[in-house]
Amino acid sequence: MSIIEKALDKRRSSQAKVPPDTNANLASAAPPAGDLRAPPVAPAAAQAASEHPVRTSKQINIDFGWLRRQGIMVPGEKRSSLAEQFRHIKRPVLNNAFGQQSAARVPKGRMIMVTSSLPKEGKTFTSVNLALSMALEVDRTVLLVDADVARPALPRTIGFEADRGLMDVLTDPGIEIPDVLLRTNIPNLTILPAGRFHAQSTELLASSAMVRLLEDLHNRYQDRIILFDSPPLLVTSESGVLATQMGQVIMVVEADNTPASSVERAMEQLEGCDVVLTLLNKSTSVPGQSYGGGYYYSQGPGSAKDEGAKAHEA
Ligand SMILES: Nc1ncnc2c1ncn2[C@@H]1O[C@H](COP(=O)(O)OP(=O)(O)OP(=O)(O)O)[C@@H](O)[C@H]1O
Ligand SMILES: [Mg+2]
Repeated sequence: MSIIEKALDKRRSSQAKVPPDTNANLASAAPPAGDLRAPPVAPAAAQAASEHPVRTSKQINIDFGWLRRQGIMVPGEKRSSLAEQFRHIKRPVLNNAFGQQSAARVPKGRMIMVTSSLPKEGKTFTSVNLALSMALEVDRTVLLVDADVARPALPRTIGFEADRGLMDVLTDPGIEIPDVLLRTNIPNLTILPAGRFHAQSTELLASSAMVRLLEDLHNRYQDRIILFDSPPLLVTSESGVLATQMGQVIMVVEADNTPASSVERAMEQLEGCDVVLTLLNKSTSVPGQSYGGGYYYSQGPGSAKDEGAKAHEA
């Protein structure tokens, strides 16, 4: 066997080490989405890189018809009152995150958790619409994380299937974030699914591995918003744990339904959070807003109070 044949043979056998689900072809065919994929491998470096599996994320195709049927905003659709509302809702959050329009930049303000005190107040609805609206911003990318690890709702709401995700990264040292990220046909939107349920999910979300993972997600791209859909604060302890790592928390309150005492008890769990914005959802009392949503106040250093009042008036 010649030296060249030996080299080719070595290369073939090392390529066979790449796991079948790395989906390298899909990744190279699709537009970049600002995720954690390994950078493209230059030919000269191919041999060295083949010693390690190439980590790439998969791409999913979000069906806009499905979004419409779920009552979710459809990117690019003109004259949508829902899209208009989320344009107002995202503004103070983005201002806090990036220190725009006289708002001070909130430390770790790009890490945003959507929560509520009770089930079914509209956390997932808010997370998805907010993520879509933010992904339409020029020069911003959005990573939408399904942190409702016990009852993940993003697959059903957005219309995709995923088995692996956040929990798998935390429990399996052989799985890394790029292996489980889902890029989408919306160029600035990437999804991190919840992954397989784990009995110690609360402990995992509070673990030092999770803190490191969040720091990595936060530090890698300075233009990236990381938005977490989470479970209700008064039903599980995951959201309370996660909130301590966030720069901003959006507290969804269902209009005319959530008891004030529940909101108060939930807010007690967020006492350590500097910026908590409250979103009144499903309100019909705001003129011209059949869906509701739009009243904000904040505690801590964020300047969202004034912005929120504007959103309410809009
Ligand atoms: N502003 C809104 N307008 C219309 N429908 C809404 C609105 N907010 C929520 N919904 C609908 O209410 C239902 C519950 O919403 P969602 O699943 O977002 O709640 P959740 O707080 O995430 O629930 P869970 O606690 O189970 O995770 C869904 O069918 C959703 O489409
Ligand atoms: Mg939900």
